[in-house]
Amino acid sequence: MNKFTLDKESARLIVLQRIELLQSFQKKLRKLFGRYIFSNFFLKFFVNTNQIGEKYFYIMKKEYETIENEVKFSNKKYLSIGGGLGGLELIINMETKNNFFYFIEKNYVSKKVKYGWDDKNLEAYNNLQLVEKFLTKNGMNINKFKIYDFDTNNFPNEKFDFIISLYSLDYHYDFNIYLEYLKKISNDQSKIIFDTIRADYFKNIFKNVKIIQSVDNTVHKSKRIICSEFI
Ligand SMILES: C[S@@+](CC[C@H](N)C(=O)[O-])C[C@H]1O[C@@H](n2cnc3c(N)ncnc32)[C@H](O)[C@@H]1O
Repeated sequence: MNKFTLDKESARLIVLQRIELLQSFQKKLRKLFGRYIFSNFFLKFFVNTNQIGEKYFYIMKKEYETIENEVKFSNKKYLSIGGGLGGLELIINMETKNNFFYFIEKNYVSKKVKYGWDDKNLEAYNNLQLVEKFLTKNGMNINKFKIYDFDTNNFPNEKFDFIISLYSLDYHYDFNIYLEYLKKISNDQSKIIFDTIRADYFKNIFKNVKIIQSVDNTVHKSKRIICSEFI
């Protein structure tokens, strides 16, 4: 398998979650007409589903390679926080055996897409029905995952081996929103992986903080860190 199967609606969502999937003419349109008109009008017409299925697979495979050595195990429980459509978890599922995936995401699409820090954590770009459809269409058994809506406050109450949040937790909104919950659902072996621009700050929160990737070619200049053992 070297591409994801997806429908037009899911393709439009992925483009909002992963800006690098836009072609350069689409980026120009977005600049010219503004984010609101672009997201609500142009994206309805200018989305090449096939191409996005291929590119999204490629990007997620590359992301997987950054964490592969840390997460490639069988019989584990994974929690994805803000995982978007779940492309990364699909790849982990393909590469490993007998794992279970939990997802916490939001179930709405903001009117105006913002790509920066979201103080109040009001922004979201997802549709949980489409996440379920996308995961099952691409080979994840319906009995192997559960999806939770962040806004219902009903979160999974399990101990997780891996908690993964790419470009979501502490990249778009404050880690502290999840702090107490993460303490509850982790143990000293749990690994928490996320992207942040303040890696050092987490040395006061966790006993172990390891930088596994530095992204210097964007305005955010973030680090991908893997943390364990709350202090
Ligand atoms: C930039 S996208 C990244 C998606 C995916 N992790 C990826 O790398 O493609 C950020 C995601 O975080 C989600 N999100 C925003 N606030 C959230 C929250 N409090 N809990 C879980 N997900 C959230 C958004 O809906 C969006 O899908």
